[in-house]
Amino acid sequence: MTDRTAAANVHRHVRHGRFRAAARRGGTEHRAGTLYDPLPGRRRRLTRRTAGARPPAPAFPGLPVRDGPRTTTHTRALVSSAPEATPPAGLPARPLPARLSGVLSRTETHRKDSPVSTTAPSPATLTVTKLGGRLGALVSGVRLGGDLAPETVAAIRAALLAHKVVFFRGQDHLDEDRHEAFGRLLGTPVAHPTVPSADGRYSLPIDSDQGGRANQWHTDVTFVPAYPAFSILRASVIPPYGGNTLWANTATAYANLPAPLRRLADELRAVHSNDYDYAALRPGALPEQLVRYREVFASTKFLTEHPVVRVHPETGERVLLLGGFVQRIAGLTASDSRTLVQLLQSHIERPENTFRWQWQVGDVAIWDNRATQHYGVDDSDDHDRKLRRVTIDGDVPVGVDGRPSVLLAPESVPEPSFGPASGASTREAAAV
Ligand SMILES: [Fe+2]
Repeated sequence: MTDRTAAANVHRHVRHGRFRAAARRGGTEHRAGTLYDPLPGRRRRLTRRTAGARPPAPAFPGLPVRDGPRTTTHTRALVSSAPEATPPAGLPARPLPARLSGVLSRTETHRKDSPVSTTAPSPATLTVTKLGGRLGALVSGVRLGGDLAPETVAAIRAALLAHKVVFFRGQDHLDEDRHEAFGRLLGTPVAHPTVPSADGRYSLPIDSDQGGRANQWHTDVTFVPAYPAFSILRASVIPPYGGNTLWANTATAYANLPAPLRRLADELRAVHSNDYDYAALRPGALPEQLVRYREVFASTKFLTEHPVVRVHPETGERVLLLGGFVQRIAGLTASDSRTLVQLLQSHIERPENTFRWQWQVGDVAIWDNRATQHYGVDDSDDHDRKLRRVTIDGDVPVGVDGRPSVLLAPESVPEPSFGPASGASTREAAAV
């Protein structure tokens, strides 16, 4: 699978909402070409309705590359900068609809010399620079806030889906309100199910002096069904050394599994919970971290069963859904569960499958929480490290067999008075 093909797949699925419905019902998209069928082992060849009517695939819409010319060179460069995802068997290349190629020209409206006005302070140029082989890109030329033009938001979202985690430098102007306002451009902000926010609304403190040391591989809030689609993390205080964050691509982790392991994983379901042995998992935890865990983080104990392989609702990729909140594999003994989780998780954490970010004050990172895990490295001793996180509502995952995730306990996810909580949505992923 080439980079060009992988990028084409991602954007084909982004644009074709019909795929999502097909994934949910376990069927195929009703369009021309050889199509990916989310049911294992099924592929179908359909007849083109308008043979030869489609233009060559632009493969990756809308994102100019640093210092490149405006037109097709951008597209070519972006193709070569797409992540090296190898989609699961059955995800073929197919030309994109002609209308997708227009995204590139729409993005051009962000340029200062463009005659097209926008509602936002217009960035000179929004550029995307690939940083890691499997994931990670730097987006520059944009000042984040709640007033960005739709074209800018679309370009950021496209980069996010393609590269899984994107970074922005110099966003010092953001405060809690502006951070949340920008988040609303990507979806609905949601509160953490148990941890109080920093501002009484959605911005969650990730502070070292409050036990905010996420030094285990995890996907945010997977102990509830509709865990967040995106997390937006903003750095306000950074230690003089250490405190980096690592991300891993769970789509490439799945795609690069040996075929027998992919087939095994496709059939598994795992129980996730926020009620785990914190002290055993973090032997170096400080007393205040243990208190915070018991009194706050696990104040309501959630149990949710997820598929181990989720069909991504926007890209159609299969991703491994595991991480630190996994308690056991459904139907297996504790011993077999540990062995199997460790085996699959080891493919996620391989260094080649990760990207590491060294924070500066004013940085913003946004990740696709449905296609990544992350790890906050706890190596800055007692120095302060303060970040703020806004999470965007997700939807209920579905496995490759179309079965959705299920909340086992409690009966529902409690919501704060001011708005929705993460995981409370009952919207199924494929129904978006
Ligand atoms: Fe996290």
